[in-house]
Amino acid sequence: MNRRLSNCHNISDLRKLAKRRLPRALFDYIDGTAEDGVTARANRSAFERHRLIPRTLVDVSNIDSSTTLFGQAVNSPIILAPTAFTRAFHHHGEVAVANAAKAAGFIYTLSTVSNTSIEDIAGIGGAHWFQIYVYKDRKLLEDFIERCKLANYQALCLTVDASTPGNREKDRRNGLIIPPRPSLATILDAVQHPGWCWHMLTSPAIITANITGDSRLEAADAKALLQYMHEQLDNHVSWDDVAWMMEQWQGPFLIKGILSVEDASRAADLGVHGIVISNHGGRQLDHTPATLDVLPEIVEAVGDRCEIIIDSGFRRGTDIIKALALGAKACMIGRPYLYGLAAGGEDGVIKALQILDEEFKHNMRLLGRTAVSQLDRSCLQALN
Ligand code: GLV
Repeated sequence: MNRRLSNCHNISDLRKLAKRRLPRALFDYIDGTAEDGVTARANRSAFERHRLIPRTLVDVSNIDSSTTLFGQAVNSPIILAPTAFTRAFHHHGEVAVANAAKAAGFIYTLSTVSNTSIEDIAGIGGAHWFQIYVYKDRKLLEDFIERCKLANYQALCLTVDASTPGNREKDRRNGLIIPPRPSLATILDAVQHPGWCWHMLTSPAIITANITGDSRLEAADAKALLQYMHEQLDNHVSWDDVAWMMEQWQGPFLIKGILSVEDASRAADLGVHGIVISNHGGRQLDHTPATLDVLPEIVEAVGDRCEIIIDSGFRRGTDIIKALALGAKACMIGRPYLYGLAAGGEDGVIKALQILDEEFKHNMRLLGRTAVSQLDRSCLQALN
């Protein structure tokens, strides 16, 4: 691991390094939020409103961070969230992320709009979930589901809060829209990052690999494919589609992007196995609540019928502790590993996962709790 990465001691350090390494438009894309960023700030301040109450004189010589998800033992309650177009942030993209996740023993959720195919990621080994949207062309969906079955993906995760992109004004200013129309300022800024430019020019074109599975497509085709995927997003999605997809998949099925008890109950009634409480990291509808704030009521309503996972705003081991203490089974992280990837490729992702894993265990020790099962309301004091 290079010296710059070794000098990163938390996710915020990785973020700063990523900012230096990436052209501004791409850093803005990772870091940015919808409109005024109210939800993104709420995500962080919700963590600050919960304080931790340690128990003392407990033998904390051994901390066990393992848990179970859908009946399977997992090393950690930390799951890598799906993120789009990962190769734009580092030329090794999803391969670097999957390698790092495998080394850490964490589950990696591959995005539909990844630049590496379902099969290539499966070939790396480790535990994988696949994220999916509802597309107008149901044949496309059937194919994805069939391919995931053949490649032994363990769960399918349907994202329901992004049938249209959030209003991300920085991306619009930078021309990072579909299809991309980079402004002159964006191009001039990119050429001031020669390392990134060199890798982009000398690596295969960035494509939506799952549509073709062929990573040798021309750049021109990549643009067309991106446009095609975008147009395929179905705004008429309904709960009937969920039932249809579960029927096709016949395995652990999660819905990601739920924020209300009503939707959580509807999902549980349909028999989904997991819910990811998410506001997409504050990137979709601004002014939605912090995920931590809706977690208790959703756990109370459906926690006995499906497993509750949460994401949005997780930057510290203590954030994970707080979510588990409020009833989450696991937490997804997106930006933290993307900062790591942009900062230093595979080593950077390894660093991000290590930071969160170590912070989580270290703070469990300080909290006087030695196992995930001991994280409950007794760990928390909620401030108003
Ligand atoms: C994609 O899901 C994004 O948030 O950009």
